[in-house]
Amino acid sequence: MAKYIVEQSGPLRGEVTISGSKNAVLPIMAATLLSDGVCEINDVPHLLDVDVMCEILRSLGSTVKEDWNAHTITVEPGKGDISEVPHELVKKMRASIFVMGPLLAKTGFASIALPGGCSIGNRPIDLHNKGLRLLGARILTGDGIVEASAPRNGLKGALVYLDFPSVGATENIMMAATLAKGSTVIENAAEEPEIVDLANFLNKMGAKIKGAGTDTIRIEGVETLHGTRHAVIPDRIETGTFMVAAAITRGDVLIKNSVPDHVRPVIAKLMECGASVNDEVDGLRVRGDLNELVSTDIKTLPYPGFPTDMQALFMALLTTVDGTSAVIETVFENRFMHAAELSRMGANIRVDGRTAIVPGNKHQLTGAHVISTDLRAGAALVLAGLVAKGTTEVSEIYHIERGYENFHEKLTALGAKIERIED
Ligand code: UD1
Repeated sequence: MAKYIVEQSGPLRGEVTISGSKNAVLPIMAATLLSDGVCEINDVPHLLDVDVMCEILRSLGSTVKEDWNAHTITVEPGKGDISEVPHELVKKMRASIFVMGPLLAKTGFASIALPGGCSIGNRPIDLHNKGLRLLGARILTGDGIVEASAPRNGLKGALVYLDFPSVGATENIMMAATLAKGSTVIENAAEEPEIVDLANFLNKMGAKIKGAGTDTIRIEGVETLHGTRHAVIPDRIETGTFMVAAAITRGDVLIKNSVPDHVRPVIAKLMECGASVNDEVDGLRVRGDLNELVSTDIKTLPYPGFPTDMQALFMALLTTVDGTSAVIETVFENRFMHAAELSRMGANIRVDGRTAIVPGNKHQLTGAHVISTDLRAGAALVLAGLVAKGTTEVSEIYHIERGYENFHEKLTALGAKIERIED
């Protein structure tokens, strides 16, 4: 298994270009199952998760062509009615659940192994199921499989109130509702930019969706959807990661292909810490070298609140600033595994339930052998390694490569001392 060897690197400087969004492209790829024609998706990041989704689509009869020089994939949906996703593919990626809504709407049936929990929590799919049931689906779960079947005359629009604005449930229900008869309203819907991107893609295919990006999404069902072409939005979490990389190394980095509106809470919190963030013509410029950085508190919330996917990265930063910070995680039940790893590097973080108390000090981190427990935690440990004295070895980096395109190459171009080695 591969690992990263990270050395204390000094301030990162230069420019980095952000890739297309992982969390936008995965549901968009699943949505191609709804189409009667060929879909071309541009600005696709080449990630392990995208490879898995390509395999899932192929297993369902689609023809998928990948052109990684152009960051483009073309998907021609199959003509058959394959509705079962192989278990070994679902095991590789939780986001495989995104095919449930499209398969159900298009073929009337979906059978998928239940995605298990992961290191950040239990991650149930009850809200996906609740929404699809309200559209008329019969859903059976048992033996580790979820089976959804539509009534003989198809899904029917309904009012769906989500008890929590789940991103995945909003996306699955929105996709299923595009081909349902009549109108669907999703209330307390998630408002993430990835949902807007998916709605834009579906609308280009001929769907009638309004309100994506607000807490109420209205979908008027249509008979069929056609092929289209779409460019994926830039990845806001990769953007945030390089913003933190600039700040934690007290560097000066211009982040190109970023959408400042998608990272408002990250900008606000970095500025509270004393970093400078400027929206320049070419991108977002983040400087950590102008002021002494100080502590701040963060609390994760659904969009437009502070993103849970940025929590580990910010925690790494907060271990290096002057003063003590509180980090409160409200979205996932168990997303503090990285606190123990950062503590192995010398940070003295105390976790009590959903709160972590993070004492900061510019000189406290020292290199250690640490484990990447999930995607964002892994990236956070790499950033911590860039400022820790000595050498940090980050193992299980397949988590990081699931979601960051050319991560160590992009860091190296900014002056980071990081090497990827096969164990
Ligand atoms: C998506 C993102 C992930 C991000 C998360 C929250 C993708 C591929 N992944 O994950 O990177 O961290 O949003 O911003 O887009 N929940 C339920 N029942 C459900 C569904 C969710 O209780 O049926 C709970 C979850 O356990 C969790 C919370 O709701 O505590 C948020 O989950 P959700 O918004 O669904 O996240 P994902 O779509 O899985």
